[in-house]
Amino acid sequence: MSASLNLPRWYDLHTHFRQGANVASYIADHLAMGCAGALAMPNTQPPVALVNGPETDTAWSIESYRNILLNAGADAFDQLIIPLYLTKDTTPEMIDQGAESGLLKACKYYPPHGTTNSEHGVPMDYWIGGDVFRALEVNHIVLCIHGEEHGLFGSDYFDENQTAESVFYSDRLPRILDEHAELRIVCEHITTRVAAEFVSNATERVAATITPQHLLYTVGHLIQGLRYHLYCLPVVKFEQDLAALRKAVTTPGQTQFFAGTDSAPHTTKATECGCAAGCYTGGCAPQLYAMAFEEAGVDLESEDGKALFERFLCTNGPAFYGFSPSEKLFELRREPSQVETLQRDEGPLVPLPVGMERELTWTLTQD
Ligand code: NCD
Ligand code: ZN
Repeated sequence: MSASLNLPRWYDLHTHFRQGANVASYIADHLAMGCAGALAMPNTQPPVALVNGPETDTAWSIESYRNILLNAGADAFDQLIIPLYLTKDTTPEMIDQGAESGLLKACKYYPPHGTTNSEHGVPMDYWIGGDVFRALEVNHIVLCIHGEEHGLFGSDYFDENQTAESVFYSDRLPRILDEHAELRIVCEHITTRVAAEFVSNATERVAATITPQHLLYTVGHLIQGLRYHLYCLPVVKFEQDLAALRKAVTTPGQTQFFAGTDSAPHTTKATECGCAAGCYTGGCAPQLYAMAFEEAGVDLESEDGKALFERFLCTNGPAFYGFSPSEKLFELRREPSQVETLQRDEGPLVPLPVGMERELTWTLTQD
């Protein structure tokens, strides 16, 4: 009989459900992979930059976007967190009122022009020491950070010894922690040894999400054949970075690292002079995470190995955000399964691991 793992349904604490006709299919893909709840990022167009009230020309509110997602199937989740997109119009009063109403659980920092729909972001220096971050501290609202230094180009942006992410974690994050002693932070989709070690050495008010792609692939996989569908930001890095991320997630008893797929559907990847950033792992993220744990040397069929995996996938995230793990279960069985390119009206959506040589070695089922 093939090995099987029964796990609590898991939480994806960083994903993108977008807007428009395809939202329901993205949510359905998440539900189909045993996902009990999600943190849905606010980089829609316009951004989710208000807490409540009707949408305006320049912003949706958490309340209005939440209703869209709930109507598209997200009511089947046990948890749905939508962070507030930090823009030049964010005020401390919005944070106070949002916290009081219970709608606001997290805020998201985007480096301006650093990734998909991030042009409304305001540079980190503006926030450090300011009243908005103070309001987050006082109200125990989590700050989700896209940790890449903005405005770097060429070899300052990406080189073997320095990347926009390593600069951010070396120079910027220590200052945030010094200035804001109570701030709870999730370092989103970390990709480098510098970031992994920074978080491991920080106090427990600092945590990080890690995607399946950053635990499985390095920049060689992206460049060889120029696999657009592996292009996301921060970009996949080097072997030593992959090793540090794997070490972080497989350290016994760790509480700071948890699943956040950053699954980000793009039906048009290649643009006239570039490539849209974001990988799609809807439908197969737990299988990919299981493969990564095994490649890191974890025996998922042992008690200890399964416990490590469960921590990362199912329990650390809810603990950080202050809710209980799911009591419902899903099953991963060691049996190959297939992922196929999805056809959407706008064009093809190519999920990982399509075209990446290895197929899934696990099959997911749930009642
Ligand atoms: C995300 C997207 O497409 O919305 N893209 C990505 O490369 N990760 C945005 C983000 O999280 O950076
Ligand atoms: Zn994202």
